[in-house]
Amino acid sequence: MARFTLPRDLYHGKGTLETLKTLKGSRAMVCVGGGSMKKNGFLDQAVSYLKEAGMEVELFEGIEADPSVETVMRGAQAMEKFQPDWIVAMGGGSPIDAAKAMWIKYEYPEITFEEMCKVFGIPELRRKAHFCAIPSTSGTATEVTAFSVITDYSKGIKYPLADFEITPDIAIVDPALAETMPKKLVAHTGMDAMTHAVEAYVSTANCDYTDPLALHAIKMIKEKLADSYNGCMEARAAMHNAQCLAGMAFSNALLGIVHSMAHKTGAAFDDFGAHIIHGAANAMYLPKVIAFNAKNEVAAARYAEIADSIKLGGETTEEKVANLIAHLRKMCDELNIPHCIKNYGADSYPTENGFVPEEVFLERLPEIAKNAIGDACTGSNPRIPTQEEMEKLFKCCYYDLEVDF
Ligand SMILES: NC(=O)c1ccc[n+]([C@@H]2O[C@H](COP(=O)([O-])OP(=O)(O)OC[C@H]3O[C@@H](n4cnc5c(N)ncnc54)[C@H](O)[C@@H]3O)[C@@H](O)[C@H]2O)c1
Ligand SMILES: [Zn+2]
Repeated sequence: MARFTLPRDLYHGKGTLETLKTLKGSRAMVCVGGGSMKKNGFLDQAVSYLKEAGMEVELFEGIEADPSVETVMRGAQAMEKFQPDWIVAMGGGSPIDAAKAMWIKYEYPEITFEEMCKVFGIPELRRKAHFCAIPSTSGTATEVTAFSVITDYSKGIKYPLADFEITPDIAIVDPALAETMPKKLVAHTGMDAMTHAVEAYVSTANCDYTDPLALHAIKMIKEKLADSYNGCMEARAAMHNAQCLAGMAFSNALLGIVHSMAHKTGAAFDDFGAHIIHGAANAMYLPKVIAFNAKNEVAAARYAEIADSIKLGGETTEEKVANLIAHLRKMCDELNIPHCIKNYGADSYPTENGFVPEEVFLERLPEIAKNAIGDACTGSNPRIPTQEEMEKLFKCCYYDLEVDF
């Protein structure tokens, strides 16, 4: 049985943060990240709206980027103490994802992190609290998705939690929150959204309900991302919607191995002083994975449909796929994102010698490739790579080589 699940309500447009005034409940726990929501006044606004709704409010602040299992456990304890009936998560994908995982642990204090990671195995929530998500970045769309990504730093691995139980009840997509994003964040989160839409469109779980969302998101991102990056706030607002549409698509159509690879490399080289930022990893790997997947005829035809829908030209399927790859690479250039790990600087910008040393990459490659194959996103990819293929694919992503297998 196929299922299509979205939040019960989605409020969009500038000023919709005010919708918080209409929530009905007694206690709201507001979960936020490192300080951008506070600094820009959105946290105070949210708290005062919730108080206007008659709620007692407590904050859980300081959720780090790429949140850890430990943060999730701490947050759940704070919830256990405060007993909220609303969890309001504001900020980028990180605080919202962390709050989703805290929510599970709050509802089921005995549950272990391993049990939470069982794909579509999360027990019934909403016995204690409902969940409202308010994104401040334009990429993950976690405000509408059934996913949460938590990092186990002891293993250096990101684990996607997946279940429609954690699809929020309410999403507030207010573009005012995205206006303060620095350029780099716009670039990374925007390419994350593009990857969501492309992977959803070629996923083996795509359907009539997800296809139009994915295609429209791709069209909008192609038209708006560079302008948003260059400071146009109208384009920034359009991107906030586009990433959300992409999220609606991939939450129901699932993703593919670009995400498997990004999940398993993001924190794999932390001991060299940097992260490979999620959206940047996706932007680098997507063109390589398209070339790999396009060896599958059905996937190739779907990529060609994407190319046609955004008018990239080309006569044959092969030409259209090549045009799509070229276009995505051009977007990376416009957004100052490198094409491969070798050229990925510690600051995420392209550089001659990136922060991941070649010998370290090669030494860790077999393990990383094995973990990527085992990632929850691999199952819906149109072509399932063998260990050898995954290692080759990663090498193409490291050295920026042509994928011809
Ligand atoms: N749940 C999902 O469906 C899903 C999908 C894709 C990715 N993810 C995960 O989401 C995480 C990435 O989330 P993200 O890309 O939104 O970034 P993020 O939440 O990690 O935030 C990155 C940085 O941007 C700052 N920031 C956030 N909003 C800002 C704003 N409006 N103005 C200024 N600064 C701001 C934050 O304080 C932080 O320092 C990763 O862990 C990734 O794996 C989840
Ligand atoms: Zn993503």
